[in-house]
Amino acid sequence: MHPSSVAGGPDMILLEELHEGALFHQLQQRFQRDEVYTYTGNILVAMNPFKSLPIYDRGHVQQYRDQPLGSMPPHVFAIANEAYYNMMRSKANQCVIISGESGAGKTETTKLILSYLAAVSTQSSLVQEQILDASPILEAFGNAKTVRNDNSSRFGKFIEVQFTPEGAIVGAKILDFLLERSRVVAQSPEERNYHIFYNLLAGATPEERATWDLQPPSAFEYLNRSGCMTVEGTDDAKALKTIREAFATLRFTNTSAIFKCLAAILHLGNTVFVPDVQDGAAVADRAPLQRAARLLGLDGDKLLATLVQRSTVTRGETFVTPLSCAQAQDSRDALAKALYGKLFSWIVGFINETTKRDDSLPFVGVLDIFGFENFATNSFEQFCINYANERLQFFFNQHIFRLEQEEYDRENIAWHTIAFVDNQACIDLISKKPLGLLWLLDEEAGFPKASDATCLDKFHATHDKHAHYVRPKTKAPAFGVRHYAGEVTYQIQDFLDKNRDTLRTDLMEVMSESHEPFVAELFKMIDLSQLEELLASHPALKTALGGGTGGTSPSSGKSPTVGAQFHGSLSDLIATLAACDPFFVRCIKPNMQKAPGAIDRALVLTQLRCAGMLETIQVRKAGYAVRLPMVQLISRHAMLCASAGDPAITPAEACRRIMAQLPDALLGQWQIGLTKVFMKGQVDTALEVLRARKRHQYAAHIQSVVRGWIQRRRYAALLRQYTIAATAARVYVARRRRRRVLSGILRAQAAWRASRVRRVFRI
Ligand SMILES: Nc1ncnc2c1ncn2[C@@H]1O[C@H](COP(=O)(O)OP(=O)(O)OP(=O)(O)O)[C@@H](O)[C@H]1O
Ligand SMILES: [Mg+2]
Repeated sequence: MHPSSVAGGPDMILLEELHEGALFHQLQQRFQRDEVYTYTGNILVAMNPFKSLPIYDRGHVQQYRDQPLGSMPPHVFAIANEAYYNMMRSKANQCVIISGESGAGKTETTKLILSYLAAVSTQSSLVQEQILDASPILEAFGNAKTVRNDNSSRFGKFIEVQFTPEGAIVGAKILDFLLERSRVVAQSPEERNYHIFYNLLAGATPEERATWDLQPPSAFEYLNRSGCMTVEGTDDAKALKTIREAFATLRFTNTSAIFKCLAAILHLGNTVFVPDVQDGAAVADRAPLQRAARLLGLDGDKLLATLVQRSTVTRGETFVTPLSCAQAQDSRDALAKALYGKLFSWIVGFINETTKRDDSLPFVGVLDIFGFENFATNSFEQFCINYANERLQFFFNQHIFRLEQEEYDRENIAWHTIAFVDNQACIDLISKKPLGLLWLLDEEAGFPKASDATCLDKFHATHDKHAHYVRPKTKAPAFGVRHYAGEVTYQIQDFLDKNRDTLRTDLMEVMSESHEPFVAELFKMIDLSQLEELLASHPALKTALGGGTGGTSPSSGKSPTVGAQFHGSLSDLIATLAACDPFFVRCIKPNMQKAPGAIDRALVLTQLRCAGMLETIQVRKAGYAVRLPMVQLISRHAMLCASAGDPAITPAEACRRIMAQLPDALLGQWQIGLTKVFMKGQVDTALEVLRARKRHQYAAHIQSVVRGWIQRRRYAALLRQYTIAATAARVYVARRRRRRVLSGILRAQAAWRASRVRRVFRI
């Protein structure tokens, strides 16, 4: 059956009606049949089933292996397979870009792709196991329970899996983005800190518990304030066992140093500051701070002194300023966040060292990155995340349009440029130098007297008239941006601090002098020459930072701000993606309750809008939505025209003869290319209708022939039976007559004999 004639078919491109309702209806019908994957051309839409489906076993891997995209029902394995075989054929890098909101299934999809690649790899090896085992480690340190997802990734990642020319996995490289560090010191109600803290406290051995002074989560301020310390269905002690095993597979040697840092962070969080006599800060109970200092290899007094006062060096002279209680608490939190952030980067770096092989080998990359976010309160993190999504959306649009254009050009098809919604203006508002919001924010970071309010004034003054900028009607401390996926209001509070996010130099110095080699290494100060080296290896970061952006210029000696770093790594990422053949997976979360089977129309529609699905289909529809290779058209529709089967004609001529059967009203709605026939949706439907009609005619003819044959056979049988019956009857009649004649003769003979006897005896 033709895919378009199936209700809830596997490809949305073939939808007759083009509106959000029709998209939803199609997805809903499929979802209810547990068909969670649907294509839009070669973009895969993946609905989260929230239940385990029996479609990811070895049997399914085998079914999808080596099958061209579209020849089998939609599946994430089909995308992984296409990426793998494309890479094998062309030796060019491939990437799968997975997007969707929190809880939509990006990380699960990433893991399914990695496991497919491992399964089809032509040789199994230790590195393959190491790549798969990196996931539980990254999830323990980078995922947390949030209200949206019990295992929410709080960082973005791009994993490149490298292959030999023979198709065996030999290595991998992970790029990580924007770990949410604020979670280390505070969590919203019903959310948790990173899984690893709870795993450690539940699974540590009695010796570890004693040496690191571990207590249950309720005893630690960084864990007990949100009111949530467990996750339903998760065994934290068992999780630690898995982590230890994964550490072993990846040959981690510093595991106890890592765990010690985690314990130190928890003890640091229990350090409470109280006002001292000179308006400064002191600690009420020295024990937690002492424990933290011991685990970090620091002198307790020195650490305390650095937390309660700031020392600055001006013209060779050191000045010491006492800090208030709130400021000391901020220093403590800044140290905990920096320590965790550095620990996370170190772990990613270590995994890379173990698994990385050869950057010149082709790879299949998988991008698992946060989707567009619009919450009740949006801050600097959402601003960065949504900026990333604008850039990825731009890349997506360009790719879809470029693909269309390339295919039309390749096939020699005349077409008009399709207008599409370009989000370049919004990207410029955020990141174009020198006045983009990111750069204005950076400029403010360079002024010691600047505040969030002065920064907001600058935003308003510069971009008041910008089509994508929204200045609130009231005096609210916020600004809005009209993103491609909707308008988002950002609260300016803490923008400046979150963007700077630098640990005070004196605190850095204390940490770098730690007696624990691991801690000292984490805080090793980067000097200017190293910074230059770093920038030289990241051209996009250098572009991001160069040229008078206040405090972030390398020549000023200050470290780049979070925004500038993020902009730099995003530009690097986009450059990498642009050099790959991309595939897209759009993950959709069907309901907020994480319930299997339930589907919320409004929620799904919002996500389809954010993923730009309607526009994608519109692009295809504005051109030719359906394109069939000539051979396929001939094999399916040759029955429409007897002369199309003439072996003496070219395939193009055969196609022309078939298409000539269509009504004239459809002229201009289709074109014949070099290897394919391009048509609008209604042309495809008309062909299908003609085909169905022709089949009906044939069927009627065949039926009448068959009926005639049956009647003739029945008549012949009847005739045969009649002849048999008539013969039998004739035989019967003749026999009866013979019997009657015979009995007459017998009677006559008997009568004659009787009369003779009577005459003899004269009776
Ligand atoms: N294909 C699937 N089959 C079964 N369950 C799934 C599937 N995909 C996702 N899930 C379920 O949904 C949950 C959330 O998925 P996942 O963690 O991949 O979301 P995410 O998009 O990565 O979210 P975040 O942005 O918060 O990291 C999983 O823990 C799992 O329970
Ligand atoms: Mg995730």
